[in-house]
Amino acid sequence: MTMRTSPVIGRQAGKNGSDSSMRKVLMIGAAVVFAAGAAWAGAHGSMSDQRVEDMKTIGGAMKAIGDGEGDAVAHAKTVNMLAKGLHAKFPEGSMEYRAKAEIWSDPEGFKKSMDEMVAASENLVDAAMTGDRSKTLAALGATGKTCKSCHETYRGPKPGE
Ligand code: HEC
Repeated sequence: MTMRTSPVIGRQAGKNGSDSSMRKVLMIGAAVVFAAGAAWAGAHGSMSDQRVEDMKTIGGAMKAIGDGEGDAVAHAKTVNMLAKGLHAKFPEGSMEYRAKAEIWSDPEGFKKSMDEMVAASENLVDAAMTGDRSKTLAALGATGKTCKSCHETYRGPKPGE
């Protein structure tokens, strides 16, 4: 008549300790991130889709830093990593969506603007690593200026606007 639940099942993992299971979680997280990156290269349509997605991710990571959500160093590294790959996602002939012809008629200026963003994102990583919130926010603001400055010159209005 009495129903008993087994007390054993929940404890079997105890021997491994929380340390190794935490490590496992982190490894899975990293694998997911890499898989997502690889999927973009193949499964997703245009170059414009890919770079817009990267910049949205960058924007999301920057917002999280500003809001004080999650690990600022990890977010800053995401910004820096994606920023470094962005220039390669503007190959000639990929003028779509909001990309302006000036990107390719003025390649030096565009590259310079990219380099400024990458440099600012490196400063952002350094600032986040100090753990000093006001330094991090200052570096975040400086990074945001480089986004804006490129957009003003090389990004057109949304189609239909
Ligand atoms: C060197 C130039 C350049 C820099 C630097 C740059 N962007 Fe962009 N960004 C563009 C261009 C060009 C587009 C439009 C791309 C397209 O339509 O294919 C774009 C598109 C975007 C979009 C897509 C949304 C939309 O409708 O346009 C977001 C979000 C964005 N950028 C955020 C950022 C953020 C955040 C930064 C700074 C960390 C940044 N960008 C830095 C040139 C730049």
